[in-house]
Amino acid sequence: MDTNLARPQAIAVPQQDSFAGSLLNGLRKTSKEIACKYFYDDTGSRLFDAICELPEYYQTRTEMALLKRHAGEIAALMGENAEIVEFGAGSLRKVRILLDAAHNPRAYTPLDISGDYLRNVVRSLAADYPALTLRPLVGDFTLPLEIPALPGPARRAGFFPGSTIGNFKPDAAMAQLRRMRATLHGGGLLVGVDLVKDPVRLHAAYNDAAGVTALFNKNLLARANRELDADFDLDGFAHYAPYNAGAHRIEMYLVSLKRQSVGLCGQRFEFAQGEPVHTEDSHKYTIESFREMAARAGFNPRAVWTDQDRLFSVHWLESL
Ligand code: TRP
Repeated sequence: MDTNLARPQAIAVPQQDSFAGSLLNGLRKTSKEIACKYFYDDTGSRLFDAICELPEYYQTRTEMALLKRHAGEIAALMGENAEIVEFGAGSLRKVRILLDAAHNPRAYTPLDISGDYLRNVVRSLAADYPALTLRPLVGDFTLPLEIPALPGPARRAGFFPGSTIGNFKPDAAMAQLRRMRATLHGGGLLVGVDLVKDPVRLHAAYNDAAGVTALFNKNLLARANRELDADFDLDGFAHYAPYNAGAHRIEMYLVSLKRQSVGLCGQRFEFAQGEPVHTEDSHKYTIESFREMAARAGFNPRAVWTDQDRLFSVHWLESL
């Protein structure tokens, strides 16, 4: 890994699997699936930013308001000389709130799977925070991550907003919390978690009227067409995202609207009419159920902030 800290340049960390390999595997399964991390190429990251602006998608604006309202308290918990490590950094809009409040932040280390996108957003952050040490990492936050120690005093503070933790099944979410804890070397973790609520409201957030979420979901197929020379008919699949109330999660699928055959990497895949391809889950927690899980993952759940309508929660977890 490149440890030259002076240049805000993206460092490549090892990638485990390729889009092609993962897609071929997922489409060979009896219940077809595509891994959700492949949503985020440059186009997908931009579409996701558009989702965050949608009127139905209350999560982003509620979380931003919570971060702003409690920035002083959060900064005090992070302490002096914090190195903020963000897992799945995206647009870097949220961390600006933390950086503006932080007491003499030592560094900011954003990790994102979308290298091109990360390079661009880091460039504009660097222009706005010229004195800050930036250590962008291109990679998959579900892999074990060792970040070299900075010279001088520094204490890590993890940042995992956007309810990305909800995109893991509960067992995998625990494993992800444990992995982040290992990366943080005793530092705390600030994590944003979407809450269980009225199913109608949840359904609307993943089925927006403008159809941006549908485009985002179908970007997986468009990306396969662009990068892997696949021939998915984008109109031959529908975005379908029901709320499974028993399992407290939105389940997202691409459903084949007809019997069809798709070519991919020299192989053909058959889709029955009505056949679903699973692309993502978004689990919802109660404040209590999330704190319990965090405790089982080896954290000490400390402060928690929520809005008046209890739509979203932000948790400060300390490493035990
Ligand atoms: N972490 C986000 C969430 O679960 C991710 C997300 C939002 C998402 N909208 C989406 C993922 C639409 C796929 C499709 O809310």
